[in-house]
Amino acid sequence: MGVLVAFFMVVLGLCICSLLLKWNEVRYMKKNLPPGTMGWPLFGETTEFLKHGPNFMKSQRARYGNLYKTHILGCPTVICMDPDLNRYILMNEGKGLIPGYPQSMLDILGKYNIAAVLGSLHKTMRGAMLALIGPTMVRDHLMPKIDEFIRSHLNHLEGEIIDIQDKTKEMALLVSLKLIGGIESGLLFETLKPEFYKLVEGTISLPIDLPGTSYHHGFQARKKITSMFTKIINERRATSNAFGDMLDALLKTDEIARAKLTDEQILDLILTIIYSGYETVSTTSMMAIKYLHDNPKALQGLRDEHFEIRKWKSPEDPIDWNDYKSMNFTRAVIYETLRMATVINGLLRKTSQDMDMKGYVIPKGWKIYVYMRESNYDPFLYPEPFSFNPWRWLDKSLESHQRFLLFGGGSRLCPGKELGTVEISIFLHYFVTKYRWEEVGKDKLVKFPRVEAPNGIRMRVSNY
Ligand code: HEM
Repeated sequence: MGVLVAFFMVVLGLCICSLLLKWNEVRYMKKNLPPGTMGWPLFGETTEFLKHGPNFMKSQRARYGNLYKTHILGCPTVICMDPDLNRYILMNEGKGLIPGYPQSMLDILGKYNIAAVLGSLHKTMRGAMLALIGPTMVRDHLMPKIDEFIRSHLNHLEGEIIDIQDKTKEMALLVSLKLIGGIESGLLFETLKPEFYKLVEGTISLPIDLPGTSYHHGFQARKKITSMFTKIINERRATSNAFGDMLDALLKTDEIARAKLTDEQILDLILTIIYSGYETVSTTSMMAIKYLHDNPKALQGLRDEHFEIRKWKSPEDPIDWNDYKSMNFTRAVIYETLRMATVINGLLRKTSQDMDMKGYVIPKGWKIYVYMRESNYDPFLYPEPFSFNPWRWLDKSLESHQRFLLFGGGSRLCPGKELGTVEISIFLHYFVTKYRWEEVGKDKLVKFPRVEAPNGIRMRVSNY
């Protein structure tokens, strides 16, 4: 009898499951939607997406083609794996393909964070951002500070076992804090660091504001960080001293010189700079060290380039703009690292109206996941795509190729491209000219949804 009841329960369970799945498919069976499956009510296919990531995407593409629908992270979503269409989507914000980042991110980074603003406000915030971190600023003002900081950050590592993930994360955070407000390692940094890490966690969590949730912690962290900066801003206003950093530029009373941002906008802009330059720069730096470790020929090529630069300098001389511009192989290593590791798997957009795409209709309010990972392994663009081959980037036409989207495209093209590349180049300069390194153990690396080493990557460092 017990066996029979259990059997019926299993059959009943299976029937309910298949009815729920069917119901969810029927709900989204509007005319002309792209093909695909919607999974479970509410949860959709989030588990498959997060657990199997690239393999889930590839298997759905095999069944439905380059443009298919799904339901992930609480939203009906279209996944686009067509490189030309991806470019079109990024280039056409004006036609209603607007940023579609998660609510948690928008809430925690603030309503004036650049991903949350559109149209003329986006232009204003982006203009203010470029005035602070654009190539001219990097060349004329930021480079010496970056050099000074990274040089000291990498001092005295010989004989140590370091976690290169920790080291590069700290570097990316500290370099932004130094450029923004002259904040160096010390008490203020030690207070800020854990709050910033909570903020980052919170931006990719479910937006449930209950004590104990990552969202709640992230939001509290935002409050603490913005109040620390508010205090610094007030101190700056109370003195006539010049500090020559980004805060100084933002607080200029000269109406022509500053972009006339409100204090709330200034705080969100500061958070955006710290947040945007954090994971991109740290992960690329970490992965470059890992790939160079595994590819001695590339490491030798890089060392040759940097020793050639050092040959003409005394030990205290910093790296300047001309040195940086001569680092062709370094740039190639950085781009190859971005490609191979796929530091950015994809970008999120949202439709602000019904959109026609490849004969399908994407309804208003749906998300579009501009999935770029597969393009990075396209054998036509990158022969032998799974081998680390920086030399391929010495052919500059690759950087200007239509399908080159490592820094995004269109009106949202990364404004920190040059700054990020300079930071990583200077980091590599001091690391490869001072040290050799060896991996200790085989630490696990996760590549999706973000590139990270859950237990860090330990390296034994010795003098070169
Ligand atoms: C290797 C380093 C970097 C990579 C690979 C990278 C990549 C990207 C990509 C792909 C986008 C497009 C996002 C989208 O379209 O939704 C973007 C946007 C952005 N990046 Fe970067 N980034 C890097 C470094 C930096 C740095 C150092 C900063 C600033 C300190 C920065 C600030 C920004 C900002 C503010 C945006 C948004 C622009 C807008 O919405 O108008 N990035 N980045």
